[in-house]
Amino acid sequence: MVFSSLFYTISKRDKWKEFLESIRNMGRKCKFFETCHQPAVFQIPHSNLALCKQHFLENVEKRVRKLIEKKHMFHPNRGEKLLIAASGGKDSQVLISIIKTLYPKDLDIEALYIELGIKTDNYSLDSGKIAEDWCKHFDIPFHTINVKKDYGINIDDLHNLKEIYKKSNWQYDLQAFRGECSYCGSFKRYNINKFAYERGFTAVATGHNLTDEATSLLNNFLNQNLMFLSRPGPKSKSESKYLVPRVKPLFFISELEITMYAYYKNIPYLPTECPYARQSPVNKLKEVLLEIEEYRKGNMIAYTRGFYKKLQPIINEAYQSQIRAEQSEHLCTQCGRPTFGKICSFCKTQRYLRKQFRKVDEKLHVSILTQNNLSNPS
Ligand code: AMP
Ligand code: FES
Ligand code: ZN
Ligand code: ZN
Repeated sequence: MVFSSLFYTISKRDKWKEFLESIRNMGRKCKFFETCHQPAVFQIPHSNLALCKQHFLENVEKRVRKLIEKKHMFHPNRGEKLLIAASGGKDSQVLISIIKTLYPKDLDIEALYIELGIKTDNYSLDSGKIAEDWCKHFDIPFHTINVKKDYGINIDDLHNLKEIYKKSNWQYDLQAFRGECSYCGSFKRYNINKFAYERGFTAVATGHNLTDEATSLLNNFLNQNLMFLSRPGPKSKSESKYLVPRVKPLFFISELEITMYAYYKNIPYLPTECPYARQSPVNKLKEVLLEIEEYRKGNMIAYTRGFYKKLQPIINEAYQSQIRAEQSEHLCTQCGRPTFGKICSFCKTQRYLRKQFRKVDEKLHVSILTQNNLSNPS
């Protein structure tokens, strides 16, 4: 059957049940202003609007364009330079395609891939190759930062460190270990921000989608993490002149819609998830949210929109005035990036991790650092 290859790429968490339902809807006609009578191929989850392929693709593009314009994320023909954080996953691959569809020539775009050195399933090498090929297809200049080359440590090294803690029963160190994905996140954030600032980009776009945003919102709410809850939604409003605004044009497009958009437009992407993220407890929260969506259609978009419209401004005001009163911005004495202390948290973490690797070397006489696995040099 024509959809069999798609089932391979749509994982359970992509809500394949809803996808099946939408295939059943194919007996229906496109409801686009009652004027199009093509067979419907997809039903927009929050509005129940059944659309044909062309109108589904246009619906997604129109919603993305509306958000870009409403939030003034970036503007064509104004000499602005947009950096897209490209991971080779479906979200950033679709983002590249939509931005090139909306602004084929009138926007200066480049892409950056962070090579994190994850060897399982050839994850990092394959992701980088897919992202690079897709950028080549659109003539988008593609850059790579290899964390092993720049910092001597990659994510596989950090995973090995955790395994050593477990084997050696170093409970204190194990408790202090934040998790591979958390270190990965700070490698990505720090390097994307630094690269964008140093190269004069006016905005950085990432592929964050509605399903992931709603899940992290729920997670931060359950953890009562005020700092994360105070963060803005689709566009960051940084008060630091050293930080380039970060924008999320797919903020209100669900993971299922992105998967279907990629399918109908034949967009290549790496279907496998980061091997370390698979064990993440946050994945469970996503499944819960998708279940709620089954009987409260449109819940995800309504609660995310509502939060950023009503609650986030209140939390932000309270939180920001509290930290502003306590701290003022400096530049890190080690790397020159903005920080509220003397040394930024990225440099502090790097220093701590290097100390931990030395400790393993000295106490256990084993070297757990992997070889430099340079890939996609640019
Ligand atoms: P994730 O946190 O993995 O869901 O990724 C969210 C977004 O961050 C992606 O859509 C990309 O825009 C960006 N991103 C993730 N991983 C990388 C990477 N290795 N290099 C560059 N950008 C990335
Ligand atoms: Fe990079 Fe999990 S280690 S996202
Ligand atoms: Zn139609
Ligand atoms: Zn620093």
